[in-house]
Amino acid sequence: MERILIRAADSAVSEIRIGPDVLGQNLLPMGQARRRVAIVSQPSVNPVAMRIASILEDEGLECAIRLLPDREAAKTLQVAEDCFLWMNELALTRSDTLIAVGGGAATDVGGFIGATYLRGIETVLVPTTMLGAVDAAIGGKTAVNIGGKNLAGVFSHPARVLVATDILEELPIELLIEGTAEAVKAGFIADEGLIELYEEHGLKAPITDVVIRAVRVKAGVVNEDFTERGRRAILNYGHTVGHAIEHVTKIPHGHAVAIGMVAAGAASAAVAGFSEAPRQQRLIEQLGLPVIAPAADPEEIRAAMKLDKKRDESGLRMVLLESFGKPVVMTVDPTTVHAALSAVGIE
Ligand SMILES: NC(=O)c1ccc[n+]([C@@H]2O[C@H](COP(=O)([O-])OP(=O)(O)OC[C@H]3O[C@@H](n4cnc5c(N)ncnc54)[C@H](O)[C@@H]3O)[C@@H](O)[C@H]2O)c1
Ligand SMILES: [Zn+2]
Repeated sequence: MERILIRAADSAVSEIRIGPDVLGQNLLPMGQARRRVAIVSQPSVNPVAMRIASILEDEGLECAIRLLPDREAAKTLQVAEDCFLWMNELALTRSDTLIAVGGGAATDVGGFIGATYLRGIETVLVPTTMLGAVDAAIGGKTAVNIGGKNLAGVFSHPARVLVATDILEELPIELLIEGTAEAVKAGFIADEGLIELYEEHGLKAPITDVVIRAVRVKAGVVNEDFTERGRRAILNYGHTVGHAIEHVTKIPHGHAVAIGMVAAGAASAAVAGFSEAPRQQRLIEQLGLPVIAPAADPEEIRAAMKLDKKRDESGLRMVLLESFGKPVVMTVDPTTVHAALSAVGIE
């Protein structure tokens, strides 16, 4: 089992455990006099929630499971309120624990519920999708959607994240590919070894190894910049163009990020001296991810890019690469944006 720590003000606030066997004994942190555990879970992984409940009941804890609506339907204030009322009925106290099991939608809303119920109770996340394991459950961002994605939430680290890679081994291929886009992104911005692992094995790359490497990258960046004022921006590599394409064409997030990374690679080649754009594109294709955007109106994509959070007064800012592992955040001019979009078939 691999342990990765998230630190704030030099003390560890969150422990991420990764391995095929992390849902065994002692899955909850020591030192808390808890009696009850509330578990929220997606329907698809209810057996995992039941497995966790059974282990904890054997240890003498009272457990209750509540199924969330699937996918984004879970990320609403109404679902959060329903969970709060259920937790009232369970008579949870500040020394009890909430566990959220599922993909990023479940861990986002679960993290929000845990961070706010009784002003914050101990929260443990069990991501069960690749995207959840390498991205959504790592870094302490929690949210629900209110008239726009992730518009209400808090930064709050879970006490522990348990990434059971035996569960990820069984993922349907589409969910594996979706999350692989974020895992390989971690390689492009900070870990050439991860790129080589994927180049050698493609989608069959050993899951425990790739998750450990990708989580190390994200945790390292978060440790330097918890509330996203500076360096954390590099995690948005591929996301400026990616979000715009996702917004306009409604393709899955991982696909949009893959196309966004190809676009960012072209912009990097144009203005940051990046010479590995063809190698990056080859790997993205090898992983079953798209490199060309679906047909879309370029003006609509440009307009969507201007709405991007990363824009400031000086213009559109993009994360670019000087080389693999050397990201830079740059303000880009219209010619560079044109090169980026044209590389993915938008002109
Ligand atoms: N907090 C963050 O920093 C952060 C980062 C990235 C993404 N996100 C959020 O994550 C969400 C997307 O995450 P996601 O792609 O995991 O989506 P998701 O949670 O909607 O899960 C996708 C589907 O996979 C199913 N599923 C989950 N585990 C499974 C398993 N082991 N086997 C088979 N099916 C399984 C779910 O039931 C669901 O139908 C979005 O809401 C996004 O905003 C958050
Ligand atoms: Zn993303």
